[in-house]
Amino acid sequence: MKQRVFSGIKPTGHLTFGHYSTAGKWPALAEQYDCIYCVVDLHAVTVTLEPQVLRQDTRELYATYLALGLDPEKNILFLQSHVPAHSELSWLLSCHTMFGELSRMTQFKDKSKNNANNINAGLFTYPVLMAADILLYDAKIVPVGEDQKQHVEIARDICLRFNGKFGDVFTVPEPQIAKTGARVMNLLEPEKKMSKTDDNDNATIFIMDERDTIIKKIKRAVTDSDGGVRFDPENKPGVANLMTIYSVATGKTFDEIEKEFDGKGYGIFKPAVAEAVADCLEPVRLKIRGYLDDTARLDAYMRDGAERANAIAVKTLERVRNAMGFYKC
Ligand code: TRP
Repeated sequence: MKQRVFSGIKPTGHLTFGHYSTAGKWPALAEQYDCIYCVVDLHAVTVTLEPQVLRQDTRELYATYLALGLDPEKNILFLQSHVPAHSELSWLLSCHTMFGELSRMTQFKDKSKNNANNINAGLFTYPVLMAADILLYDAKIVPVGEDQKQHVEIARDICLRFNGKFGDVFTVPEPQIAKTGARVMNLLEPEKKMSKTDDNDNATIFIMDERDTIIKKIKRAVTDSDGGVRFDPENKPGVANLMTIYSVATGKTFDEIEKEFDGKGYGIFKPAVAEAVADCLEPVRLKIRGYLDDTARLDAYMRDGAERANAIAVKTLERVRNAMGFYKC
């Protein structure tokens, strides 16, 4: 049996060129592992969201995953709110999670600071729901960014505590922090990762951006006064990032890129990057539109994903209920 990978993404904001880059690994990942991708809409409502925005962002995220080439036959792609077991297991796990350990979560502390007028209980128990996501599917591997490592670690702690009390009910998960592959950085502050929730839209290339917008953003991207196209992330982070982006868009290596732009300045390099990015994102954007315009097809994929996820989740939940001693008749 293949090991299972579980990955969750919040339906807030639009996906970026960084996600486009990650999507390149999906086919190989699907060969090696049993992959489950979850649109975590229940996590999204820990911050204030207009209902129509949640609905729209959820559909767009799902459509984007499909358009990026995630094969819904070889993977499971579903919405968290379509599988009730997430909420139920979250409650059960919350009774095995300590107030003290949740209080130490750095994301909770940061979010409370930024959301001072809405520090709700969901924000506090967010990691418990995330633990439920992971444990429901016996996921062994959870690929996350550095910022989510602490949440996977608490999921692991909850899991070990639960197993210690009730027997080996859950598979013990591990965080996997991507070390290989392209890291696409913020266009204006190339020391930071490109993020879908940055305050400044100009720092991020969105998959849904039109050609003109992409050209404008790359034109404004930070470079340096040295003028040469060389891969030196230490001293030339902005140029290194544009080279990474160009490499993802064209498949060219850094060596090839350096040769291509040898003796040429950023005035030649930047428009080439912009054109390459616009060319590779355009078909994806059109596919996303296609899915969004065909609700019947999109809904059918969502229903199928939910059904397959649910079939796994209810079995785990049954194991948990039995282990904990819930009366069955
Ligand atoms: N908290 C994650 C984030 O903000 C999203 C998430 C929810 C997740 N449940 C998950 C990620 C389970 C991995 C596994 O990025």
